[in-house]
Parts: sequence; structure tokens; C-alpha cells
Amino acid sequence: MKIELIKARQVFDSRGNPTVEAEIKAGNIVEKAIVASGASTGSNEAIELRDKEKAFKGKGVLKAVRNVNEKIFPVLKGMKITDQKKIDEKMIELDATENKGNLGANSIVSVSMAIARAGAKAEKKELFEYLGELTGNKKFCLPIPQMNVLNGGKHAGLENDIQERMIYPLGAKNFSEAMQMSVEIYHELKSLMKKKYGSLAGLIGDEGGFVSPEKNEEEKLELILKAIEEAGYSNEVKIAIDCASSEFFKDGKYFLGNKEFNAGELTDFYSGLAKKFSIVSIEDGMAENDWKGWKELTAKLGKRIQIVGDDLLVTNIKFIQKAINENSCNALLLKVNQIGSVSESINSAKLSFENSWNVVVSHRSGETEDSFIADLVVGLGCGQCKFGAPARSDRNSKYNQLLRIEEFLQEKGKAVYGKK
Ligand code: PGA
Ligand code: ZN
Repeated sequence: MKIELIKARQVFDSRGNPTVEAEIKAGNIVEKAIVASGASTGSNEAIELRDKEKAFKGKGVLKAVRNVNEKIFPVLKGMKITDQKKIDEKMIELDATENKGNLGANSIVSVSMAIARAGAKAEKKELFEYLGELTGNKKFCLPIPQMNVLNGGKHAGLENDIQERMIYPLGAKNFSEAMQMSVEIYHELKSLMKKKYGSLAGLIGDEGGFVSPEKNEEEKLELILKAIEEAGYSNEVKIAIDCASSEFFKDGKYFLGNKEFNAGELTDFYSGLAKKFSIVSIEDGMAENDWKGWKELTAKLGKRIQIVGDDLLVTNIKFIQKAINENSCNALLLKVNQIGSVSESINSAKLSFENSWNVVVSHRSGETEDSFIADLVVGLGCGQCKFGAPARSDRNSKYNQLLRIEEFLQEKGKAVYGKK
């Protein structure tokens, strides 16, 4: 089955910004994929090409669309649809930059994901099975979701703030039960927020979680614990946070709330929060360039807490290898558009697995109806995902796809929840 046509178009993401959709045609197969987009992006991420013209205040992606139609398609035409690795390599070669700045990671990754979908179809496999095959993984499992119920930082128009407070249903017996627990806690939290802060407190941020007017971090986490308790899941559900601390790091110092911290003090602050609020995972606790701070954080908390690198690693094996060598963290946050192709994302996961790291497959704050990453997390078999709150269809498209996959695996007696 050979690539006959690749056609891209400009569509829109959950924040109302333009993004790229690519469509592949091979024989009777037609498959599409849409690219997500970040707000608190790492500075070493692959380049998201924007038009920088009048339309959409510079955010148009027509150049990236043209790159797919006029540059990528002629080169990939006639290639075997199941040659994912070769196709990705060809696009990387054509771009010929370190950071995909020439064609744009958004053009390359839209094609890469659509190719994977078409490849799965050609082999008459489910997408997660096909992605598992590309990874060399046969142990499929449904992920424990980190659900961002209280949005902050850039996703909520707040400064000097932790970005994400997530519920983590570690003790659910399967994914459907994890969903039930999370949804019930989400609604419990909404009632508690409205009771405490008034009706506006039910409004939400970019990732579907509520936005608190509260300044004190402990008060925010306290309310989440209360929601977990009132929903009756104190034993099963823990908390994870993404600090996105590059956003509140300036001149070697961290400015969180109305306090100022150095890396050591911030580590102590996190340690206190973790003990008090059953926090099991901390993402981007230190800023992307503060390698020394990361080392300190991991040395102090890494034995009992998952220390996740997002902006630090940008899903790039170069930074992952450095972090492995320097013991900077113990888990990878995997975002496909951060590196810009399916094959490279799989390589980043594999390098992490080889070094006994955990991997968390993640959405972006600007998302779409595309549920590719739901299949990816099952295919990789890494057992953890971060797809936002269980609200708004840009987030629930992923959770709903996971429910379908769980049902599919259950029928075969093969549904496993979490990393086993
Ligand atoms: P982003 O945020 O998609 O805006 O980068 C998500 C995250 O920091 O994990
Ligand atoms: Zn993050």
C-alpha cells in the first residue's frame, strides 16, 4: 500500500488558534491527524511554524500547510504506508535542521501521525496495537490518568503559580473505575469551590480544570483532598502536580505565590507539600535550565516521588540522555509535538524504559478532537497519561477512546490497568 496523496489544511484547536490537519490517501485508506499546541512551552522544543502575518495575529499555519502539500508530499509520494520509520526519517532529512525549524514540527508531526493511522489500517490493526508493534511492545495496559482538576499558571491567566494540580486514581481496579472516581471528584470539587468562593469559581481553565481565586497553595490542595474525601476515595486517589516552574524562575530564583525560593528551599517546600497532601508525582519542579536544581530535587525526593521532566527534556533523546547521566529526574513526560514525529517519540520512550524511568504520555494545553495519544499510551504500555480534566471534548476525546480500548481488550481478557 503506497502513499498516493497527502493533503494538509488549517483547522482550529481548543483555544481557537489555527493548527495543522494532514490527510493521507493510500488505496481505499483515508486517514487524518491534527496537531496540538502548548502555551508553557519548553525553549528547546521543535519549532511550531506560524505565519507571523496579519491573519490570526500571526498565528496562522498556512506556511506549514503549504510545506506539507508542496514539499513533504512530493518526497513521500509512492512510499510504503507501513514504513513509518523511513517516512519520518525522510521528513527529518528534508527539513535538515536540529529543531525542524525549516518545515515546522507541526507540518511534520501531522503527517507522521496520519501515516501511523493509515499504516494501522493497512495492517488491519487497531492503532494502539500498531504503535505497540512499532515500539516492540506487546504488553498493553490502560494508563493511570493524571487529571488536572485545578488549573493555574499560564493556563488560567495567573502568575507565580503552580500550573497543574491533578488527581491520580492509583487505586482504581480498572480504567473505567478510574474515570468514575475522577469524574465524581471533579464534580465534588466544583461544588466545594462554588460554596467557598461563589458561582464564578465553577469556571474553567485551558485544560478543563477549575480556576481558584485562592492565593495559598496549601488551601488549594486542601480543597482537592476534601473533594476526594467527600467522594469517598481517600484510599484510592493520590495527587500529582506540574509546577511548570520555568514560568516563575527569574535570575536564579523561584517566585511562587508571594515568596522567593532558591532550589534547595523550593525542594523543601515541595517535600512538605508532598507529605501533607499525598503527592506522588512532581513535574517540572525546577526550571528547564536549572540542571543543578533538578539534581538536588531528585536526590532528595526521587526515591519516594516520581520526578517528571517536561520542559527539561522536551521528549528529545539528547536531553533525556543528559538527565539519565546526571540523575536529574526519573520520568519522562512525552509530548509528540515537542519532538515532532512518531518515531522519535517512540525512541524517547524506549530510551526511558531502558533506564528504568517511567513515561507519562501527555496532551498539550491547546488540544483538538484528535485522540492519537490515547492509542499511543496504550501502545507504549507505559501505564500513565496526562490528558487534562475529565471535561470538554478536547480532553474527553482521549478518555473516551481509552474506554473503547479498555472494552476491546476486556473482550479478549487482556485489559490491564496501570504499569504492572
Ligand atoms: P503546555 O502545558 O501544553 O501549555 O506546554 C502542558 C504542560 O506543561 O505539561
Ligand atoms: Zn508540564
